[in-house]
Amino acid sequence: MAQESPRLSGERKELPIERGFPIERINEIAEKEGRAKQWYRPIYTMHKWWARRPGCLFRAISLYALLDDPDKVNIYEPGENGTLDDYGAGHSDVEKLIENVDMADPESLWELYTKDVRIGDKKILDPFMGGGTSLVEASRFGVEADGYDLNPVAWFITKKELEAGETSVDELKEAFQQVKSDVADEILNYYKTDCPHGHHDADVMYNFWVKEIDCRSCGHTVPLHQDFRIGKGRYENDNKYNILCPDCESVFLADEWREECSCDECGYEFVPEQGNVDYGKYICSECGQKYSITEQISEGDEFDLHLCAIEYYCRHCDEKGESKSTVKGYKSATSEDRERYRKAKQEWENSDSLHQFVPNKPIRSGWKVSNYEFEGHMTGGGNLPRHGIENWTDMYNDRQLLSLSKIIEAIENLEDQNVKEYLLLTLSGTLRTNSMMVGYDYSYNKIVNIFKSNSFDPPREMCEGNVWGTEYGRGTFESIWDMVKRGVEYANAPTERYVKNGETYETEEFSQPIGQNTTVHQGDMRLIEAENEYDAVITDPPYYNNILYSELSDFFYVWLKPMLEDEYECFEPEHTPRAESIVVNPASNKGDEEFESELKQAFSRINTALKQDGVVTFTYHHSSSESWGELLESLCETGFEVTATYPINSDLNKFMKGESVSFDIVIVARPAGDRHPISWNSLRRDIVRTAKQTHQRLTENRDLSDGNIGVIEMGRAFHEYSKHHGKVQRDGEIMTAKEVVDEIYGIIQQGSDIGEVDVFLDLLEIKDPTYNDLNMLTRGTSANSDEMKQIQLYRMESGEFVLGTWDDEKRLAYIQERVNNNDSNGLTPLDKAQFLRYRYEHGKSIQDYLEKWTVSDDLRKLCQELADASGDDVYRRILGGDRTIGDY
Ligand SMILES: C[S@@+](CC[C@H](N)C(=O)[O-])C[C@H]1O[C@@H](n2cnc3c(N)ncnc32)[C@H](O)[C@@H]1O
Ligand SMILES: [Zn+2]
Ligand SMILES: [Zn+2]
Ligand SMILES: [Zn+2]
Repeated sequence: MAQESPRLSGERKELPIERGFPIERINEIAEKEGRAKQWYRPIYTMHKWWARRPGCLFRAISLYALLDDPDKVNIYEPGENGTLDDYGAGHSDVEKLIENVDMADPESLWELYTKDVRIGDKKILDPFMGGGTSLVEASRFGVEADGYDLNPVAWFITKKELEAGETSVDELKEAFQQVKSDVADEILNYYKTDCPHGHHDADVMYNFWVKEIDCRSCGHTVPLHQDFRIGKGRYENDNKYNILCPDCESVFLADEWREECSCDECGYEFVPEQGNVDYGKYICSECGQKYSITEQISEGDEFDLHLCAIEYYCRHCDEKGESKSTVKGYKSATSEDRERYRKAKQEWENSDSLHQFVPNKPIRSGWKVSNYEFEGHMTGGGNLPRHGIENWTDMYNDRQLLSLSKIIEAIENLEDQNVKEYLLLTLSGTLRTNSMMVGYDYSYNKIVNIFKSNSFDPPREMCEGNVWGTEYGRGTFESIWDMVKRGVEYANAPTERYVKNGETYETEEFSQPIGQNTTVHQGDMRLIEAENEYDAVITDPPYYNNILYSELSDFFYVWLKPMLEDEYECFEPEHTPRAESIVVNPASNKGDEEFESELKQAFSRINTALKQDGVVTFTYHHSSSESWGELLESLCETGFEVTATYPINSDLNKFMKGESVSFDIVIVARPAGDRHPISWNSLRRDIVRTAKQTHQRLTENRDLSDGNIGVIEMGRAFHEYSKHHGKVQRDGEIMTAKEVVDEIYGIIQQGSDIGEVDVFLDLLEIKDPTYNDLNMLTRGTSANSDEMKQIQLYRMESGEFVLGTWDDEKRLAYIQERVNNNDSNGLTPLDKAQFLRYRYEHGKSIQDYLEKWTVSDDLRKLCQELADASGDDVYRRILGGDRTIGDY
């Protein structure tokens, strides 16, 4: 039966996170942080890593999972440079904060969210550190933290995040200035154009390119425009559209892009919405031929790239104080613009010494690259070779290669390795927006980045940004540098943003920088050797096929490799490790089953690395009851018991199209104690009771949606189950975790209840039940103890609690009277079962009654339950034969 505190934890202290977690507070901040990461926690926008979780979530997890001993905590006031906070003085204050965390009100510890908290004597591990969120956040509490990731790019990013706290921002700025004076002007020169408002140069923000192909029947050149929009109008024209004329290629403003309009320049009439492409086929404007683009290319035809328009910024006009629409706008590309490109191309072809810096190496085949080579079904596959992309450098045009390699050369010339690496990180980040793999977002007038869809998806209309960067424009080297610099500044003196009465505030700077006492490793986490070493594992494991880290990260890896291979062994191979990557990927021959068994190996390793009283908390997705059953089973099989689950805000952006994943969750688990056998009937009552009590406490005390409450109930129910995993009997068989999870879903969704008979059954399971037990078991249920007393299910006799079992005279008298009244309809299954049990004992016939009463399924089920609860097997026989009772 359920008790308030877990039975198996013995000496082990229950951690705050097992009692309660302030998800409302976290979600409030997470939502804001998600929309403005670069302001909330600039450390995480230094470089892309996929599926990053909000930093505030891991800060909260650290606080609620690591803070358990008031003697080992020091609390400082941010900004006062090391002065102890009021809490710092009093042990008992902190003790109260820790102890007061409770399901109904988990907020006491939240007070420390905005304090500079130092926790002594704790060691944590993140075996799947990815972009390092858990380590960064844990390190801010001064604990010792180790991280692992298989992926060298993840390792490098996290390493730079953790080293940032001890890196001098001034030295970095100096180095950036050095690179700038070496190459900025040269690169900016590749991105000039005639200002449409005078005889001077303007800067190119974006060059708009389009693929074109020769019509296979008439030879006419067809540019592959989906439609003829260039971008939405800006400023006073923000209700209009910049449109490209298909006839004379001038750019003009039109009111509508879905309706017919005529070109300002040549008078050509057309509907901009109607491009030259329809579902992967081109349409020849001369002869009307329609043909598949990829087929024509795979048949041997090549396509060309055509520069058709430009978005410019003119410093000259800006300084003269011209209107915004003059200073920044769209224009058609001229022959001079094409000549400028041709010159850069020529320079690239003649700059042999720069070629060593770019990855002119074949792209390894894989699901994201050439999915048709593999068997299997999964969305998000790619077909780069069919787009003519075979080497990594094929993703860039020559001007981009020239500009990027010049920056790398300048970085190579820097002295200090640490400083170099931050600039390299910047360069790597710049790749996301500076390839021919990206297009332009017509509605928001901005360049998109290559990983918008977590795949390699070559566009037909490309947007080439100004690699170094001018006053405006996204994703340039200069703007990415700004983000890296801000990340390092933040790491030196982090702050916390928090929400109070709907308003956002920011704390003063913390004196504890990011990353002290941390170590990061690259490698398969299944080879970690630590045993019984960590107090906590805080992590975010991979999830089925959500992201193919290895394939995607090669995009960065191949550029980082030449600069890092002499320093770090993990950058020696041609690509990132794939075989050991825990993920579903048809290209590695891994399906759901392989993923599940590898994840299990991972949990088993984590269990070994953890101390026996340690805790693992990890984020995961919640989808179907099957994947939940799978997860619970893996955890239980690898020696864990789940102690709590909490729903958290999902970053919906990160899900690929077609994902059925519905929300994210935090799971708390601890090494399991001995497991005791239990009947499903009895466990079911425990679960129903626990769920019910949880539901009631949460609805009464907190403002949570039903879905959120359901998830927390689920965690409590899993906890009940974990204590008996592998030993739950139903109809003589052991139930699997998956079967139990199915039942738990039903119980929670249907809001099952506990009645008088359930409480009676629970009391039967207790050796010498007391009035207290009765009270505890009825609390929060619809079982009424007065009612139970009336029907003689218990009574008090000279201060003793007496249970109304079949051999209790008072209970039997009560039943006998009802039997005598010949009112068989008024008899409950419990009345009948106990009455039959009594007659059986005294050798009296029961057949008459069995014939008189209909033996319902309820009665059969109850007899089983009575047998399970009391250990009295006669109950299984009194209904006759060996008929097993059907499942309900
Ligand atoms: C969901 S991500 C972690 C994201 C991270 N929490 C963050 O905020 O950026 C999971 C990570 O597991 C790593 N991984 C996959 N298989 C691994 C293995 N066998 N050993 C270590 N790491 C592995 C992947 O490279 C990936 O970075
Ligand atoms: Zn044609
Ligand atoms: Zn025209
Ligand atoms: Zn101008």
